[in-house]
Amino acid sequence: MAWSTPYGRYQVAPLEQKDIPQVAALERLVFLEPLPEEGLRAKHQLPTVVYLAAKDDSRVVAYFGFEIFAPYAHVLANATHPDYRRQGLATFLLTAAEPLARDRGARAFVGEVRRSNAPQLALLKQLGWVRSAIIPAFFGNGEDAHVVIRVLP
Ligand SMILES: CC(C)(COP(=O)(O)OP(=O)(O)OC[C@H]1O[C@@H](n2cnc3c(N)ncnc32)[C@H](O)[C@@H]1OP(=O)(O)O)[C@@H](O)C(=O)NCCC(=O)NCCS
Repeated sequence: MAWSTPYGRYQVAPLEQKDIPQVAALERLVFLEPLPEEGLRAKHQLPTVVYLAAKDDSRVVAYFGFEIFAPYAHVLANATHPDYRRQGLATFLLTAAEPLARDRGARAFVGEVRRSNAPQLALLKQLGWVRSAIIPAFFGNGEDAHVVIRVLP
């Protein structure tokens, strides 16, 4: 599917296997605890996993992955390349993923967000996600997680 913003025109589609190294590079760029390329490959081939990617020509500029544990869809990760932020790419991907999760038996998305991750918490709030609890020292560096839930409409 093609999607245009005032900044550019993007192709949004399920992530292709050949693009996994780009996602691994993006994870290393933006996450403290990136999923290594082998881990991404393993997840990507599971029938219960969906990765949706936005591309600028052949460049992956944003992605969102989730795994179905019906009735939940557990968030694996979402990220937007720093050069492409605040264009609505994450908003587009998370919204486009809702019917995909619903079609696979999910009634809600659930995920964990670092307490310090104000941009992600703001994004999710805007999209109707709610914070349900805090898990202390959830992340590898000891940071707490907000458990976030989006009941699918
Ligand atoms: C969080 C992240 C995915 C947002 O991606 P994005 O494509 O820039 O998001 P959008 O353009 O769809 O932003 C939608 C809304 O989210 C909120 N938001 C996004 N980034 C924000 C920021 N840096 N500060 C405050 N609010 C922010 C705003 O409300 C924004 O709407 P606005 O631009 O009209 O004000 C991106 O900053 C990122 O990749 N961060 C690093 C990876 C990460 O933390 N992922 C989440 C792991 S749980």
